[in-house]
Amino acid sequence: MSFNRTIIITGGAGFIGSHVVRLFVTKYPDYRIVNLDALTYAGNLENLRDIDQLPNYVFEKVNILDTAELKRVFDQYQPDGVIHLAAESHVDRSIHSPLDFVYTNVIGTVNLLNEAKRIWLNSLNSLNSLNGFRFYHVSTDEVYGALGDTGFFTEETKYDPHSPYSASKASSDHFVRAYHDTYDLPVVISNCSNNYGPYHFPEKLIPLFINNIIQKKPLPVYGDGLYTRDWLFVKDHATAIDKVFHAGKNGDTYNIGGFNEWRNIDLVKLLCKQMDEKLGNAPGTSDALITYVKDRPGHDRRYAIDATKINQELGWKPSVTFEEGLAQTIDWYLENTEWLSRVTSGAYQDYYKQMYS
Ligand code: NAD
Ligand code: DAU
Repeated sequence: MSFNRTIIITGGAGFIGSHVVRLFVTKYPDYRIVNLDALTYAGNLENLRDIDQLPNYVFEKVNILDTAELKRVFDQYQPDGVIHLAAESHVDRSIHSPLDFVYTNVIGTVNLLNEAKRIWLNSLNSLNSLNGFRFYHVSTDEVYGALGDTGFFTEETKYDPHSPYSASKASSDHFVRAYHDTYDLPVVISNCSNNYGPYHFPEKLIPLFINNIIQKKPLPVYGDGLYTRDWLFVKDHATAIDKVFHAGKNGDTYNIGGFNEWRNIDLVKLLCKQMDEKLGNAPGTSDALITYVKDRPGHDRRYAIDATKINQELGWKPSVTFEEGLAQTIDWYLENTEWLSRVTSGAYQDYYKQMYS
């Protein structure tokens, strides 16, 4: 079978990556999509069961720290695009094991940039010049640091990361820009706010609390609960990535967010209310599980994305309200309890005890 494009998507077995792979494989049957993923604790091929038999999908179990394997994959597939999502993604884990974040997020990204540069330069010197090559780094709003009560992060906001996770993502963003400025590698970066939705690993606030409500376990709210995050449904992030990959300006950055700020405690109360309704509990049942616990060190007070640029330049906007997206998310978890119990067995139990006992 011949394809018009070949794109390597890293981290495609993770939360956001699996939605991006699904969107690209189904929307672009003429593209060959290579899902490159090491399958860490956060990667799960079950997330892609519904599309993994399609003829334009390929999986490669590769760690981005393994340069020989990366070279093999880039030589074999000759991609004309890379969408890089593979990362260590959880802030709490970065506080306990910062070096894992340096290895994967910084060194792994530079390894990929080197392969992208090699393949792209080779193609420029051959008759098979890769058409419209680009390296797309999927990054986070956490690189901008924390906001006070007002204001938004724009694409011009100065980087000011506070956690080892955000420092590693800021560093990888800088390397991506450095490869553009130094070697002219065609790149694009997006910085997105907090995602939520199906296949979210239950270490992050929303899926952790959904699982704990199902299990009737305490809901550990850090500090005073007045920290604010800006939430986006994961499928809307995937459509934004599609727009940025295809139409984003070479060398540019795009902020992605839904103008949807919630204080943690307000979000948790909405989640409790929706869960009680869906589970047929008496009102207030889940609220009673809320437990204030010790704060996360270096906890950023507020994130809020100004998504005007992607809206005006690329015509992207979110498709669902938070209430709709949250209801769909809860329904998915209630319908996929086997997935939930499988990902919360084994090593997850040790992690949970270490974090919350
Ligand atoms: P995730 O933790 O759910 O998935 C990460 C994936 O990367 C997993 O499939 C894992 O197996 C893979 N991976 C990890 N280390 C690897 C390595 N060394 N080699 C190859 N594969 C490896 O993460 P996510 O929440 O889907 O986030 C994806 C990307 O989006 C990350 O780069 C993250 O920084 C960024 N991002 C996430 C959010 C969010 O709210 N989750 C928001 C903005 C940006
Ligand atoms: O802003 C984008 C980022 O959002 C992504 O880059 C990260 O990969 C992603 O993990 C997410 O980071 P956060 O730290 O904001 O997400 P988390 O779900 O861990 O926490 C959301 C908020 O909830 C935060 O203020 C901490 C708080 N929290 C979290 C957990 C896990 C709690 O109060 N209790 C908890 O048990």
